[in-house]
Amino acid sequence: MIAFNVFLKKIATMHYIEQYRSQFLAHMEQKVKIKEPVNLYGPISYILNLGGKRLRPVLTMMTTDILGGDHKKALDAALAVEVFHNFSLVHDDIMDEAPLRRGKQTLHKKWDLNTGILSGDAMLIYSYQLLESYPSMTFKKLLQVFSQTALEVCEGQQYDVDFESREDVTIPEYLIMIQNKTAVLVAAAMKMGAIIADKPEDVQDLIYDFGKNLGIAFQLQDDYLDAFGDPETFGKQVGGDIIENKKTYLYLKALEMGTPEQAQELEHLYSIKPKDAKDKITTVKELFEETGSVSRTIEEIKRYTDRAFTTLEMLDLEPGKKDTLRQFGTALMNREV
Ligand code: IPE
Ligand code: IPE
Ligand code: MG
Ligand code: MG
Ligand code: MG
Repeated sequence: MIAFNVFLKKIATMHYIEQYRSQFLAHMEQKVKIKEPVNLYGPISYILNLGGKRLRPVLTMMTTDILGGDHKKALDAALAVEVFHNFSLVHDDIMDEAPLRRGKQTLHKKWDLNTGILSGDAMLIYSYQLLESYPSMTFKKLLQVFSQTALEVCEGQQYDVDFESREDVTIPEYLIMIQNKTAVLVAAAMKMGAIIADKPEDVQDLIYDFGKNLGIAFQLQDDYLDAFGDPETFGKQVGGDIIENKKTYLYLKALEMGTPEQAQELEHLYSIKPKDAKDKITTVKELFEETGSVSRTIEEIKRYTDRAFTTLEMLDLEPGKKDTLRQFGTALMNREV
């Protein structure tokens, strides 16, 4: 979190981003309160106030603003997106058996599994309820993109789990999986901003495409940081994907680029779940490096970010506004949290 802010401070548009973020946080504080039953709303407040980069709500507000709308009108949609994102994290942490989130205990570890399931459900429902404040035409359009996205996230999450126990996952399959579990929500966050700014569908689609490619780069980076991030700042258990035998880009590329011996060793390591995973993590990371997979992954992050920037060129926007989006994309690519 701190590392990301330090990086953001270096970019010229930090001033805007910080403004969106603080307005968003004030809005959330006003809307999300702990009430009875405390065992439902307490955990919801816990996860929503653990921090996080607030990327998606910032993107919703920024998009409305850049497209000439009133960014304050985007606040409820921005909150809907952030609440949905946090819902997906709570259930994801159960599915991934993750102990840490944003440097603190995951919700289901601090409470229990049932609390994680129900408070996640309630967050999902609340995220939809937040959209009710929009005029009916806008509401309908927002709902369409939101529901479609939510289903796609579930599809992505299912593939992610299916891939853990499959040995024949391909890179195209992996890319579809991360597009669904992660990129479509980033894309939808931006498209919702365009809908609130009342922009025509061709603009909505270009913005969506920008967000989608940025989102793919974002998840590739997340996979990279999961293995090579700094445990002090990353906020999640470093090596968690290796422990869970997640078929990430790092893994799939290492299989492709490695010698038959290296590939065999990796495949073996990804068929076991040792109680103490320390040695497994060290060996797997060495293999990721030695096969050249790490450098290829970094190149791929850049490739998808550049692809997003190409879409940006097709948008009819003042150069300064394009710069804001470009700088944000560049900051994401260089994040450490
Ligand atoms: C984490 O998202 C889940 C992924 C899709 C990789 P973020 O990295 O945006 O998480 P927070 O909200 O900033 O903690
Ligand atoms: C998360 O993917 C995607 C969703 C929550 C939908 P990950 O499992 O990689 O996210 P982290 O690493 O736990 O944040
Ligand atoms: Mg996870
Ligand atoms: Mg997961
Ligand atoms: Mg991850």
